[in-house]
Amino acid sequence: MARRVALEDPSRRLGRIGPVLGRLHLHAASLESFPSIYQIFRAVQPEECYHLAAQSFVSYSFDDEFSTLNTNINGTHFVLAALKDVVPKCRFYFAGSSEMFGKVTEIPQIETTRFHPRSAYGISKVAGFDLTRNYREAYGIHASSGILFNHESPRRGFEFVTRKITSGVARILAGQLNELRLGNLEAKRDWGHARDYVEAMWSMLQQEQPDDYVVATGKSHSVSDFVRNAFGLVGLDPKKFIVTDPEFYRPAEVQILVGNAAKAQATLGWRPKTDFAGLVHEMVITDCASLGITLPSAKSAETG
Ligand code: GDD
Repeated sequence: MARRVALEDPSRRLGRIGPVLGRLHLHAASLESFPSIYQIFRAVQPEECYHLAAQSFVSYSFDDEFSTLNTNINGTHFVLAALKDVVPKCRFYFAGSSEMFGKVTEIPQIETTRFHPRSAYGISKVAGFDLTRNYREAYGIHASSGILFNHESPRRGFEFVTRKITSGVARILAGQLNELRLGNLEAKRDWGHARDYVEAMWSMLQQEQPDDYVVATGKSHSVSDFVRNAFGLVGLDPKKFIVTDPEFYRPAEVQILVGNAAKAQATLGWRPKTDFAGLVHEMVITDCASLGITLPSAKSAETG
């Protein structure tokens, strides 16, 4: 499903899924319009529905709480309500988030860890998570939520810290940038590869019973660690380029996230295949290649 504006300008708006566009049938609809979602369910009669759409940039949710809450909460409600009416047998996946844990009450976080969201985005995901559970319990919908920790890839948006760093490294090497401005370098995240995480999503919908699962690597690294690894790969000294800028600090920060995916491992047989060093390497290499810079393809040792 894609918005009409995106369909009309595919090279700009859908560029990141360019390589698979030919294998997809995109339907015009908007998360903000219940009728448009309803019509797609009626036309497609899907067996599985992966509801990943959202205003997903945490930082932006502080600038515009209203549209984040509206789109994310109503959008999820619209999808569930239409699905229940039109295709109640359709299996449903909701993209929950480790941001729901926010100010964490235990380390590592598991499915039963109490939620304490720290942003409108996190709050909207808790609401979506509860809606999903309630449609499962009240209406018998096969509805599951993945509580996914940060998952990255070379297709990550440039505003997220991982891609900001790896694209920054490439631009510094290419002589297009001489400093990289970042916010809180001490924040820690459990970063995995999106490629691995979509397998977990799919797997949840293949189970007889719907349920909620943490999907994480179990290892946490700071933003500084990510910087050190990415710059180290190309032999640059980050101290010469990183500038901390208050503009990129958040009014309420999630300091540490680290998940325990034991349940996903036991029930879904899921395990991440790409480690932190492999992820950083793949992202740096791809961003460098896009600017015509070739790096050795062997994995580097993780540092920091
Ligand atoms: N974006 C950004 N830009 N983040 C920065 C910067 C910067 O310049 N400097 C430091 N950070 C810190 C943020 O404060 C945060 O602690 C961490 O880097 C990660 O920020 P993001 O990459 O923007 O991701 P996120 O953790 O807020 O959210 C992502 O992961 C969630 C799952 O935990 C998003 O993908 C969410 O949609 C997702 O739910």
